Amino acid sequence: MPMQPWFTDAKLGIFIHYGIYAVDGVTESWAFYHGQVSHEQYMKQLEGFTAAHYDPDVWAELFARTGARYAVLTARHHDGVALWDTAQDGLSVARHTPAGRDLVTGYVEAMREHGLKVGLYYSHSDWNHPDYASVIHPDMPPEEATAHPYVAPRDGQERPQAWERYLAYRTAQVRELVTAHHPDLLWFDGEWERSEEQWRLDELADAILSVSPDTVLNGRMLSQGDYATPEQGLPVTTPPGPWELCLTINDSWGFQHHDHNHKSVRLLVRYFTETIAMGGNLLLDVGPREDGTIPDEQVARLEGLGDWIARHADAVYDTRAGLPAGHHYGPSTLSADRRTLYLVCLDAPTEGVSVRGVRNTVKRVTVLGTGTALAHRTVGGLGAVPGVLWIDAPHGSDVDRHATVLALELEGELDLYRGFGRD
Ligand code: GLC
Repeated sequence: MPMQPWFTDAKLGIFIHYGIYAVDGVTESWAFYHGQVSHEQYMKQLEGFTAAHYDPDVWAELFARTGARYAVLTARHHDGVALWDTAQDGLSVARHTPAGRDLVTGYVEAMREHGLKVGLYYSHSDWNHPDYASVIHPDMPPEEATAHPYVAPRDGQERPQAWERYLAYRTAQVRELVTAHHPDLLWFDGEWERSEEQWRLDELADAILSVSPDTVLNGRMLSQGDYATPEQGLPVTTPPGPWELCLTINDSWGFQHHDHNHKSVRLLVRYFTETIAMGGNLLLDVGPREDGTIPDEQVARLEGLGDWIARHADAVYDTRAGLPAGHHYGPSTLSADRRTLYLVCLDAPTEGVSVRGVRNTVKRVTVLGTGTALAHRTVGGLGAVPGVLWIDAPHGSDVDRHATVLALELEGELDLYRGFGRD
């Protein structure tokens, strides 16, 4: 399927890891997998999950203010606890927690009401389902299986019928979500525990797309995926196709009360601009408390990022990846008509900003947001090799405290020199 244009135009999405792990503030699902807490203690969190102040309208309003164009909610993480009232035999907040209701429908409606595209995260794996640990990944030596009791059979004996039941359960759950909500995006995870054949991802993709043909699938659907999902680290080389960087706002996906190591707004602007400059989207994660409220520290980060984006919207929306590395010391984006180049200055320039390899005449350079024109000149150049464009540094109120953006209006569409300096 060709990539949905809304996705590559979106630039920013908000990831929401919301689940019973927020009750004690432990790592989502992994806490019992790694034995940080006992399985019993982890599951006891079911009793404390209230969603007492859950108001997806407040979320949607905040995300829209942040400048996000989509959101992705953990409908079901590796712990198997569905956030909706699933008709399948698994766990759900509707039937197994005091929250006692479906939380997905309200989320979907609120996002759409605020103009955001709807994403749902679903983990292929379910470490609590009795039929899950029934087969072994073909690359896993059978003797290792015993070390992964939530993933593979303890005795190393495969149970193919149980696996069939698990796949039926998985597909039925996904079908429930797709039929009820026609999500714009399904964000799968946990694919590493089985092979593509074991997961039967072709059948799963068919089940989704036959009902909702426009749903975008992330790369954790392996060969059925539409885009790549680097996690927690920016790519160094621009990935070949559509992609999205998922990133925690502090060091945790879900709410962990002791984690105050939040990225600063400036750092988030950095990640965001570097991402869109390479043609990707940023999927920035928040972790609501068990009652459904997003911690103030996280709200403040989203608002700060949103303020910066609002002031620099022209450099964000309706743009494409900018200059490849080597032309400008910082991220850049290019307007859809390829006639305006936006240079992001991550640190305040003191003397000047230089750009190499632009063959076009530069008609005007202005500071985005204030409109101040900056003097500029091209120095040197010979034959086919363009000189270096030097732009005077902005000063005073033209310097943004997070990142200043310069808009270069070009004569014609961007024409780049990519050679070695002498033809
Ligand atoms: C990892 C983790 C998971 C988290 C996800 C987000 O795959 O397993 O806990 O939800 O990253 O990308």
